Amino acid sequence: MSYTIDTLFDDLPGANGFHGKDILKVAQFSRDELTYIMALGERMREVVESSGGLDLLKHRLMAALFYEPSTRTSASFIAAMERLGGSVIPITQGVQFSSVSKGETLGDTVRTLAQYADAIVLRHPEIGSAAEAAHYAPVPVLNAGDGAGEHPTQALLDLFTIQQELGQIDGLTVAMVGDLRFGRTVHSLTQLLLNYDVGFRFVSPEILRMPLAIANQVRDHGAEMRETYDVHEVIEEADVLYVTRVQKERFSDLAQYEEVKGYYIVDPELLTKAKEKMVVMHPLPRVGEILEAVDDDPRAAYFRQVRNGLYIRMALLAAVLR
Ligand code: NCD
Repeated sequence: MSYTIDTLFDDLPGANGFHGKDILKVAQFSRDELTYIMALGERMREVVESSGGLDLLKHRLMAALFYEPSTRTSASFIAAMERLGGSVIPITQGVQFSSVSKGETLGDTVRTLAQYADAIVLRHPEIGSAAEAAHYAPVPVLNAGDGAGEHPTQALLDLFTIQQELGQIDGLTVAMVGDLRFGRTVHSLTQLLLNYDVGFRFVSPEILRMPLAIANQVRDHGAEMRETYDVHEVIEEADVLYVTRVQKERFSDLAQYEEVKGYYIVDPELLTKAKEKMVVMHPLPRVGEILEAVDDDPRAAYFRQVRNGLYIRMALLAAVLR
């Protein structure tokens, strides 16, 4: 079945609590809203596969303001907006070409962009920057990563990927591996998964453990959870192996980075111990944590995960702007 602008939103399960809202952190989502976004994401997949897109957001504009490097997040937001018939003001080529380099504050920059655009997608190196931008901007702000804080739209596409790949979320054991301290994607995904009945395995070297606040949140929630530094301890029981890059740019001491950077390497040998039906995920970019020899394994889902980012960001922009 092919959807039209008139039928796209018909009979969706869950609830759209997003209209006109900022997307800042995963704690803002109810399970009902997650159901809604994933169902809409599924429809976006059908739309893209059948006709490439839909003129739902014609004449709408999205500003993409990226103060940190990005490939997937910026490209998928831009692709999502354009596949919905909208357009983009891209400030992604290094803000050195914008007035930020003249010393303009974040507040003034977003207030300016809001005069032209209907939504602002922001990536920024500081925790809390998205909330600060939302304070100033009269249009919705979508957090595309605030330093080591959160990356809520990535968590939504990760959730969607788990659902698509394994057909369920409840009852799974999710192992997160690598830089759990600075990795904003695992911060967001962990908190998002607390909406479901999921067991957690946090695998990291001591200095890259999951922040206490998040580990405590998991504990207080009553979710099953174990921490270890040894990936072999969890590989057999994991339904999801979520691998992350050590976030070099967040280290103040590069010698410390050198010590932990090659700590985990997922190779075909490790996967011989894993379940036949499981998924290997990674937000990408990878810098050696998953060998290319793993890419042809049917369980390697990271490029399908990238594709899902397009559908979920289409769903989010539609939910926020329509
Ligand atoms: C991640 C990020 O920027 O937080 N990438 C992404 O958005 N897909 C992960 C990373 O940079 O390691």
